[in-house]
Parts: sequence; structure tokens; C-alpha cells
Amino acid sequence: MKIQIVEVGPRDGLQNEKEMVSTSAKIQLIDKLAAAGLKRVEATSFVNPRWIPQLADAEDVLKGIERQNKVTHSALVPNLRGMERARESGLTEVALFMSASETHNLKNINKSIEDTFPVLRQVAREALALGMRVRGYVSTVFGCPYEGNVPIDNSRRVTNELLEMGVFEVSLGDTIGVATPKQVREVMEKIVKDTTSDRLAGHFHDTRGTGLANVLAALDTGIRTFDSSIGGLGGCPYAPGAAGNISTEDLVYMLNGMEYETGVDLNLLLDAGAFIQQELGRELPSKVLKAHLAA
Ligand code: HMG
Ligand code: MG
Repeated sequence: MKIQIVEVGPRDGLQNEKEMVSTSAKIQLIDKLAAAGLKRVEATSFVNPRWIPQLADAEDVLKGIERQNKVTHSALVPNLRGMERARESGLTEVALFMSASETHNLKNINKSIEDTFPVLRQVAREALALGMRVRGYVSTVFGCPYEGNVPIDNSRRVTNELLEMGVFEVSLGDTIGVATPKQVREVMEKIVKDTTSDRLAGHFHDTRGTGLANVLAALDTGIRTFDSSIGGLGGCPYAPGAAGNISTEDLVYMLNGMEYETGVDLNLLLDAGAFIQQELGRELPSKVLKAHLAA
């Protein structure tokens, strides 16, 4: 059975690094990830560079990477200004993002949930008119750093609004890595009922070590698309304490062992992980990368 992996390391990972990574290293990383067989790579963000200085070089990164038909590169877009930048960069896919909890939405994109819908609807309309694919993210589905528990109905509502805007897939985010498999099963089962499992993805941060277990629970509910990040890089600067996404190396290792098809060459992926670890000059959380480098 096929599993789609959306590599978010160059965006979700690098947006949170204290050290600035050079544009050239970002370009090399993105090309190595594609060479390893990842078909979907989220390369950067077209957000306000004052909010996320780490990704202020979005245009230059997209200019430098190798564009090939087999790989879809995408970027986060929060508003029409971001959409304009994405269009000028020649992207074929953009990702909208918002939260299921009011306070995180406000801290992350400076708007209430109600005020975000019309902005994203306009962005989606424009992207679709240009022939782009539009992905959607819902953050804080499994818990909010400011509000704690988030009612499932809040996540359902935001998911359904995004689907109505025309997004092809909604990625459900455990932004601060608090979910456990039982909760993942409950939440995913409810949200799947509103749509179909092929229009949903799991986006798990591994703050408390439950990330891969949460993937297994989501697989049980029919989800076949997962976001992960090379080396386990990542976090959200507007979610205090959020750690990295599940590592792509760990995810691929587990799925290969379970005879799922990922299309990813683990050895080439490990080269990409070793490369970005070397660039950052610190040990990354990926367990499979650690084991590989120790062997
Ligand atoms: P704002 O300050 O309210 O925006 O930010 P504004 O419309 O008032 O504009 C203020 C200034 O920003 C203006 O410039 C705009 O031109 C500029 P000035 O006139 O002052 O010189 N501006 C922009 N510049 C470039 N590109 C843009 C852009 N937009 C405005 N797109 C905004 C609102 C949404 C832009 C801001 O809050 C922002 O950039 N937020 C992004 C935060 C972010 O990237 N967070 C991390 C990603 S989400 C995440 O990690 C979660 C996820 O992984 C899933 C999960 O884990 O749950 C996806
Ligand atoms: Mg994230």
C-alpha cells in the first residue's frame, strides 16, 4: 500500500532554527530530499519576514532549486501578499494555514478565526484560478499551548471551511506534540466522516515521543498521507515548547519495515539528514539518523 510523505523540514524545520541557515544550504537540502525520492517538499514560506526571518530568502531558495516534473514544491501562504510572491516564484502548489483554537490563530497570524476565513478564501480563489493546487493546514487540533484542550468540533469546522474553499487536502496538526494514539483515533475518525480519508493528512510533532505511534493510529483510520521533517527538525515559533516534526528517516524506516510503499531511498535520505545536521552543527533528534551515523 502506498503512503505519501510530505517533507516539511525546509519550512517547518528551518523556520524554528536559531542559527540562520544559508540560502545555498537550503537549496542543497531541498534538492537532496527530492533526489531521495520525496515527491512533495514544502520548501519555504511566503509570510511576513519580520515574523519569520529564517525564511526571508524564500524567493532566492525557489530560484535556486532544481525544478522537476516529478516533485511538487510548495510554500505556506497566509494572505494575498504571500500569494503574489508565490505566483511570481512560479510555484504550482501553495498551503494555507490556520488554527482550530482562537488564541493560537491570533498569535500565529494576527487575526481571529472568523477574520481569517475571508482572507484564505480569497487566496484560495486566486491560486485555483492560476491552476495551482491548494493544501490546507489546521493547527492545534490535538491541543493548544494557550487554551489546552481543543473541542473536536472546532477542528471539524475549520477543516470543512478549508475544504469548501477548494483545498485538495487538509493536514491536521499536532502543533505542540501532545496527542496520544487514542486521541488521534477519536479525532481522525470524526473528521474522516465529514470528508474522505484521502483528503486528510497527519502532521505530528514529536515533543513527547508519541509521533510515530500517532502515525500508526492514523493509519488505522485510513489516513495515508503524513508530514515529516528531515532529521526531526522543527517546531512553531508561535507555539512555545513545540519540538520537531516526526523525523522523515524514522517514518520511512518504520513504513518500509511494515511493507508500505513510500518511494523513498532511505540511504539517500540519510545523506540529506547528515548534510543538514552538519550544516546546523548540532545533533538532530532523528533516531534512525543517529543509529546510521553511529554504525
Ligand atoms: P500582520 O503584521 O498582521 O500583516 O501579519 P499586515 O497585513 O498588517 O502587514 C504588515 C506588514 O507586513 C506590511 O509591511 C506587509 O506588506 C507585510 P509594511 O507595510 O509594514 O512594510 N506583509 C508581508 N510581507 C511579505 N509577505 C507576506 C506579508 N504579509 C504582510 N505574506 C501575517 C500577518 C499573517 C503576515 C503574519 O502574522 C505572519 O507572517 N505570520 C506567519 C507566522 C508563521 O509563519 N508561523 C509558522 C507557520 S504555521 C506552523 O508552523 C504550523 C504548521 O506547521 C502546522 C502545525 O504544526 O500545526 C503549518
Ligand atoms: Mg508544524
